[in-house]
Amino acid sequence: MQNILVTGGAGFIGSNFVHHVVETTDARVTVLDKLTYASTEESLAGLPEDRVRLVVGDIADASVVDPLVEEADAVVHYAAESHNDNSLSDPAPFIVTNLVGTFTLLEAARRYDKRFHHVSTDEVYGDLELDDPKRFTEETPYNPSSPYSASKAGSDHLVRAWVRSFGVRATISNCSNNYGPWQHVEKFIPRQITEVIDGRKPRVYGDGLNVRDWIHTSDHSSAVLAILEKGRVGETYLIGADGERSNVDVVRAILRHFGRDADDIEWVTDRAGHDRRYAIESGKLRSELGWTPQFQDFEAGLADTIEWYQANEAWWRPAKAATEAAYAAKGQ
Ligand code: NAD
Ligand code: DAU
Repeated sequence: MQNILVTGGAGFIGSNFVHHVVETTDARVTVLDKLTYASTEESLAGLPEDRVRLVVGDIADASVVDPLVEEADAVVHYAAESHNDNSLSDPAPFIVTNLVGTFTLLEAARRYDKRFHHVSTDEVYGDLELDDPKRFTEETPYNPSSPYSASKAGSDHLVRAWVRSFGVRATISNCSNNYGPWQHVEKFIPRQITEVIDGRKPRVYGDGLNVRDWIHTSDHSSAVLAILEKGRVGETYLIGADGERSNVDVVRAILRHFGRDADDIEWVTDRAGHDRRYAIESGKLRSELGWTPQFQDFEAGLADTIEWYQANEAWWRPAKAATEAAYAAKGQ
């Protein structure tokens, strides 16, 4: 594959994928990104100009999307509104970007017969009880809880329909919670790290026992590239790294890293419709495509991530101030 169009390539996970492609292949990359509040354009700095190009535009705009898809060999689709809390306070952009945007890209992939990979989330499956012995598999029924996860579930269904009805050469991946450098401070781990850096208490929703299945974003990127290169068209692959941790355990690990009392936590009102537990069984990806995660030790990956936020304060400070102002305006 010579030319890959990466939507949302200036975001947290998409930018990591662009670096991974540049480091491990000869392909050229075009990033299509609207540069919303969530984008991290700085994360693309230093990439070779003859291999990476940024086009600022909206995936829901066919006049922008069409020529870029036509000139690409493959599309890897990351662009989305991605934060559950925002989808609860204002669902509209989630419907436009995640549904209309995906539709617009699929129509272009159909028109120009391009390989398409759709990056999705484990949240489409709803949640598990804490003591459920099962984990999510590719066969788990869809049961999304929030406007965000419903919009992602809808986008997955669009991809499946375009494969079946129009023969679009698409694959889907559903990944668990990512962590690592360049993640927006609205998300759980960066929010708590930056609260603690500022001498405040981490803010934990509800009873803090909700479980997320953490994967380092680099491992997500290597999995997506493996699916793009070797995955079977029409198939879905779950991506996970066996990283289940409760929110309170993650927060205590962050507090301990800073030498703070592990119980110095601010307990806040629970998120509406808050999913209890996510857990991924990624055997299909591992056995079919030979993928394994490199970050086996979550605590070590978390320590690296904390150190990255300590060293990159100039990057996250403006976003932190903007996020706090937005939450204050909404009374959150
Ligand atoms: P992010 O919010 O950090 O980045 C999203 C990017 O998409 C931003 O650069 C933004 O500017 C861009 N974008 C938003 N609307 C756009 C539009 N209309 N047109 C063009 N670009 C637009 O999100 P992320 O955490 O990097 O997630 C990327 C993808 O991975 C999403 O599809 C998300 O559903 C999926 N995913 C995320 C996680 C996670 O833990 N963060 C886990 C599994 C799957
Ligand atoms: O599972 C994959 C999904 O993971 C992705 O599809 C989403 O794009 C991504 O945002 C993430 O969704 P979550 O809702 O799980 O992530 P978030 O970082 O918002 O919250 C993680 C957990 O931490 C969740 O149980 C809510 C809780 N939380 C979150 C915040 C921001 C808190 O307790 N306090 C907080 O301040």
